[in-house]
Order: sequence, then structure tokens, then C-alpha cells
Amino acid sequence: MDNTNPQKDTNNLQERDGFASRLGIIAAAAGSAIGLGNIWRFPYITGQYGGAAFILIYLICIVLMGMPLMISEFAIGRMAQKNAIGSFKKLAPHTYWFLIGVMGIAGAIMILAFYGVVSGWCIDYVVRSATNAFAGKSTESIIHMFDGLITHTWMPLLWQFVFMILTGIIVIAGIQNGIEKYAKILMPLLLLIIIILDIRAVTLPGAKEGLSFLFKPDFTKLSTEVMFVALGHAFFSLSIGMGTMITYGSYIGKRENLGVTALQVTIADTLVALLAGVAIFPAVFAFGINPTEGPGLAFITLPVVFQQMPFGNVFGTLFFLLLVVAALTSSISILEVIVAYFSEELKMSRKKATILSTTIVTLIGIPASLSNGPVLSNFKILGFGFMDLLDYVSANILLPIGGLLILAFGGWYLGREKMERELTNGGTIQSNYLSIFMILTKFIAPIGIALVFLKGLGFM
Ligand code: TRP
Repeated sequence: MDNTNPQKDTNNLQERDGFASRLGIIAAAAGSAIGLGNIWRFPYITGQYGGAAFILIYLICIVLMGMPLMISEFAIGRMAQKNAIGSFKKLAPHTYWFLIGVMGIAGAIMILAFYGVVSGWCIDYVVRSATNAFAGKSTESIIHMFDGLITHTWMPLLWQFVFMILTGIIVIAGIQNGIEKYAKILMPLLLLIIIILDIRAVTLPGAKEGLSFLFKPDFTKLSTEVMFVALGHAFFSLSIGMGTMITYGSYIGKRENLGVTALQVTIADTLVALLAGVAIFPAVFAFGINPTEGPGLAFITLPVVFQQMPFGNVFGTLFFLLLVVAALTSSISILEVIVAYFSEELKMSRKKATILSTTIVTLIGIPASLSNGPVLSNFKILGFGFMDLLDYVSANILLPIGGLLILAFGGWYLGREKMERELTNGGTIQSNYLSIFMILTKFIAPIGIALVFLKGLGFM
């Protein structure tokens, strides 16, 4: 993914397998969006912030703010043919707009630091499922196993290193294309297992309570904090607000319909999150697990559900393995943002840039992992453990600010004419959504983000 020579690069992309095909583009962008955000983060914060009412706000954020932002990112990236920082430098030379990209780098480092830790837990769960470690265990002892893992000092670090090294190798070798080719087959397989899990979950005795928790909103649970967290998660799950989709936009061919691509990615991402919710919450209530359990929710509930299925350990092993693959297609997209900056703006070789950024991110991940265990559990910043702090600040603060600024850049700085040219592929395709897109991009989405953000932080 070397895009130092944009013209040549676009031509290459046309010939290259993977990105050249329609499905390849969607697989790459959807591969970035679909990851731990859908299967780990979405269920646990839905549990903590009140279920259906939270989901409703989350869906509203996706439609009103997420969609216009993803379309804007794609358009900016494809227009500039550059990375997250280079795009702003090229489209707005001699201005400070490139600072959006700089903020994106900070966000990328923070997100990947804890993302690597949680992905490490998934690798551990592959091993546990494969060795049948959950068989015949009570819910209690499965909770105990999870706590044992994350509070352990070196075990999660070992898996985190394995995951980060895998991410680095894929990015150095430039085989994103290769991995996306596999992802095209493996991700539908993950979806299939989730659907099988859904069927098992909704037929559990007591499943109904979980379904109404997910789909019957209790509006007394709404608060500014719920909206704040829902907005942050919408951006996290869609991989927007940080320049990832700007970088991916630069790889999308000039003949593709950006609006349609964004819509497909958004639908796929939202569907996977909701289906993961349906796999988890009926079981949460059926087995008396606490919905506000926190980051362990999926790691506790899913092994319990697998146990209720024939060949549960086989399904479990396959599921966690595919989850690791889903996490990898997301982690490479986060690392790519940092590597593109180091290599293109700081003029480093791609290999050096990847080794350096992987090392930085992994080192920051170490205290994040240790903050779950005895070594650093008493070390709190603003009341958060270090890992929770990285998660909360990056998703709820950096992504919305980045998103707001990117919308302002697309809607106000570039303006309708340039955006329209990009979104209609120079007038060759119709995009009758343009007027509504511009209203959302210039007014509704930025004002919505600003309100939720300022209220959420207590400034209003
Ligand atoms: N969206 C991914 C997930 O749900 C994580 C991710 C990848 C991301 N790239 C990102 C989050 C950029 C924020 C910004 O797991």
C-alpha cells in the first residue's frame, strides 16, 4: 500500500486483485469496521448503558453522523490520493487542517494499544476452546477463568505480543491484499457462526428477557452520558473520525460509487453488532450473568453458550479464531494510519516505520494490560484504570472531535461543488442523496456531535 505516487498507484489498484474488485473494496473497509468493536465492545457497553435505549441512540448516531462522516472520509481520501495527514496537506496546503491527521495518529496509537491487549485475550480463548478448557464448567468458574486471565501478569502480555507481531508482519509484507482475500471467505464464516449462536441463544429457556433488554427501550435509562458513549461507539465501530477511511478511500477506484460503498459497509457493521448482541444477551439473562459485567461480558457469555451446543468446543475454537482474524483486519487498518505518517511525512522506510510504530503501540499496551491485574490496578487516572482510560478517551473524545473537524473540512472548506464532483465520479453517476448529504455534513452532524460532546463533558 505505497501511495507516494498517486497516479501510478491508482493504476496499480485497477490491476491488483482484491481492491480492484467491488467486493474487495467493501471487504477491506468492512474488514476495518467489523472487529472487536462489534463483538466485544458493543455488547459490553450496551449492557452498561441500558440496552435498547442505548442501541436506539447508537443507530441514530450511525445514520445522522456516521454515514455522512464515512462518505466524507472516502471522498477526501480518494480526492487527495494520500494518507490521513497528506490528504489535508494536499487539499488545503499551508493551512492547519493537517492537524486533524496528527490527532488521528494519537488516536490510532491509543486505540491500537488496548486493541492489541483484547485481541490477545481472543488468542488465549482459541487455545482454551481447542483444549476443551470450558467443558463442564459452571458460569461461576468461567467468570473466574476470565478474571484469572486478565489479572495474570505475563500471560496476556505474551498473547498481546503475538497479536502485535502478526499485525506488524502483515503491514510490513504489504499483504493486506492477501489477508483481505482470505477475509472475504472467513468473515462470512464468522457471520455464519454468529447466526448459529443466535439460534442457540434465542431458544434458551429465559431468552425473552434478553431480547426485550435489547429491543424494548426503557427511556428512563437515557442520559447525556448514554448519548456521549453511543456517539463514541458509533465512530469506533465504523472506524471513522481518525482518518482510517481517508486512507482506505485513497485506495478505492475512481469508478466506484462512494455513497453506496459507505452504505454497504455501514449496514454490514451494524448487522454484525446487532447479531452479536442477540447471541449474547439472551444467554446473559438465562444464565444470570450481570449485564453490566463490563469488558468480560462476551468472554464470559459466549463460552457458556458454546457449552450448550453439540460440538461446542469445535464451534468455540473456530469462532475465536475467526474473531482474531476479524481483529487483525481492523488492527492493520489502525496501524496503517501510523505507518503511513511515519513513512510518508517523516520519510522513513516502510519497514522501519512499521517496526517503530508497532513497538511504540505494544509498549503502551503493556501498562494497559497490567492495569487489569495486581501490578497496576491501584494506579488510576481521573478514576480510570489505564486501559479504560485509553478506551474511553480515544473513542469518546478523540474520535468525535476528529469527526467534527473532518465534516467541517468536507462540508465547509471543500464545499458542495468539490464533494459533488467526487461523489458523482465527475458527474458520471447519479447521486440523488447529495442535498441531504450536504445538509447533514454541514449542519446536522457537526451540531449534533458538538451538542452531545459538550453536554457529555459537562460544559453545557
Ligand atoms: N472499527 C474497528 C472495530 O470495530 C476498530 C477500528 C479499526 C477503529 N480502525 C479504526 C476504530 C479507526 C476507530 C478508528 O473493531
